[in-house]
Amino acid sequence: MVNNDTVLITGASSGIGYELAEVFASKKYDLVLVARSTEKLKEISDQLSKKYLIKVFIISEDLTKENAAETVFQKVKNNNIKVNILVNNAGAGKVGLFHQMDASEDYKMIQLNIASLTHLTKLFISEMMEQGSGKIMNVASTGAYSPGPFIATYYATKAYVLSLSEALYKELKPYNITVTTLCPGATKTNFTKNAGKKDAPGAMEAAKVARCGYEGLMKNKKLIVPGLINKILIRLPKNLVSTLNFKSQKNLAEK
Ligand SMILES: NC(=O)c1ccc[n+]([C@@H]2O[C@H](COP(=O)([O-])OP(=O)(O)OC[C@H]3O[C@@H](n4cnc5c(N)ncnc54)[C@H](OP(=O)(O)O)[C@@H]3O)[C@@H](O)[C@H]2O)c1
Repeated sequence: MVNNDTVLITGASSGIGYELAEVFASKKYDLVLVARSTEKLKEISDQLSKKYLIKVFIISEDLTKENAAETVFQKVKNNNIKVNILVNNAGAGKVGLFHQMDASEDYKMIQLNIASLTHLTKLFISEMMEQGSGKIMNVASTGAYSPGPFIATYYATKAYVLSLSEALYKELKPYNITVTTLCPGATKTNFTKNAGKKDAPGAMEAAKVARCGYEGLMKNKKLIVPGLINKILIRLPKNLVSTLNFKSQKNLAEK
């Protein structure tokens, strides 16, 4: 099987992003992988290019930096790579009392989860318009559906991702560009540890989330929510979920 299409995945050095890279590689897509950890990206590039006989281009970039999206886009252009699919997966969160958390933590989350995602989407859309087609998958969260006391900024960033992506799904349909939102619930990755949380009971495997994401993206779905419990969760009343969130995050935040 030959597939000349290229997918760019941010946050591909671990978790859901790494598993997405493996799924796309197994379908013979060439890859552009973005994250900060250069060594991990090199290892993944080596592993996937040999296993699946595909081309992998890596970009080490900190997406909390103001010009990061432009830098990534220019590196792709300078290497004459045409991106057919953009997956904005990189993201991070932090549990804590909002008033005690350093403002730089909020800023970094907003820059990574919102600003870079928005800018990358805009830059690659312009290229997809020229190509006459394209696919974008933005990774939000089930947390996008309700406020998250003690992890407030992170949940708010994911509500933004969902809102932006659903609006663009409608806006870009006539241009043959699909925008899919992937809303995972608790997933076993480094995310929880980095956020200062523990894995929730029933957290899904990242590989399963990635497979759901890939399949939904290929079907041009507007929204993908992996797992039955998560599908139920997003339909519960906002206030109820927010109260449950309050109870579950409070202890972690006060530690
Ligand atoms: N795990 C969950 O329970 C869960 C639930 C809902 C939604 N999500 C979302 O799923 C997405 C993937 O997260 P994950 O669970 O797979 O977590 P993860 O294992 O921590 O992966 C996060 C990825 O993002 C990259 N990243 C983090 N900060 C970055 C920065 N400043 N610049 C560039 N890349 C950066 C990391 O690479 P480097 O460290 O090498 O930069 C890593 O590759 C995120 O958007 C997250 O919000 C996760």
